[in-house]
Amino acid sequence: MSKIALVTGASAGFGAAISRRLMAEGYTVVGAARRLDRLQALRAELGSGFHPLVMDVTDAASVEQGCAQVTSDFDGIDLLVNNAGLALGVAPAQDASMADWDRMIATNVLGLTRLVHTILPGMVRRNQGHIVNIGSVAGSHPYPGGNVYGATKAYVRQLSLNLRADLWGTQVRVTNIEPGLCGGTEFSVVRLGDPERAAAVYQGTDPLTADDVADAVAWVATRPARVNINTIELMPVSQAFAGLRIHRRT
Ligand SMILES: NC(=O)c1ccc[n+]([C@@H]2O[C@H](COP(=O)([O-])OP(=O)(O)OC[C@H]3O[C@@H](n4cnc5c(N)ncnc54)[C@H](OP(=O)(O)O)[C@@H]3O)[C@@H](O)[C@H]2O)c1
Repeated sequence: MSKIALVTGASAGFGAAISRRLMAEGYTVVGAARRLDRLQALRAELGSGFHPLVMDVTDAASVEQGCAQVTSDFDGIDLLVNNAGLALGVAPAQDASMADWDRMIATNVLGLTRLVHTILPGMVRRNQGHIVNIGSVAGSHPYPGGNVYGATKAYVRQLSLNLRADLWGTQVRVTNIEPGLCGGTEFSVVRLGDPERAAAVYQGTDPLTADDVADAVAWVATRPARVNINTIELMPVSQAFAGLRIHRRT
């Protein structure tokens, strides 16, 4: 029996790459997102082992129905990849849009939490399963304009660690994967709302690819059952830490 993975945000970027990679590892993949046409294109590419699921993680009823559908179609979920997420804007906090903050929190914090709350009890009951959350270096390393996006990923980081504390004594695993600059996805177009500005983010760099992130997901998921990888932080070589800034009076 092949293992069942539920991958959120499977219609683009990391989620599509993770779905491809997990299928290559022998998983049956349920790929969830809002855009059905994209999921159907992935189904045409990957075949009948890929199951499109329309789900908006910001909508409680949609998550409930979607997860109920998956658990009735399959025995249980072996691997949940909480990947759906987004950043909106790069304005300093004092100029940022509350609507953007609201949507980031609704998706990256509440949406992800809702998936965990719905899927985790079944994993504990079966004493088997793995939740892989997609965090970000933005959850640990502050940068100007990162404000609420970074805060949502700090939440994902701490939730992942706290889940480990609660799951002590069970065989359920939790991992937080924290990528740095990654190109070839829709992330910066969504964040900046302009393909040209988005392309400039990666100009002259050799960023991570979605396949690099999928590789990390596949690696943590295929460790022996006794091994829990708590956190993976990965960056392109072209990205590193900046120092603290000091503002001087003029
Ligand atoms: N790219 C980077 O540099 C980078 C770095 C670190 C972390 N990350 C994180 O990695 C994850 C994936 O990013 P990506 O680069 O692959 O971005 P992407 O190409 O924009 O893909 C985002 C995915 O999330 C889905 N999504 C967004 N809102 C959703 C909602 N309300 N309900 C269901 N699905 C939703 C989108 O599908 P639909 O629009 O079809 O719903 C899409 O499939 C995000 O959590 C992001 O924060 C990205």
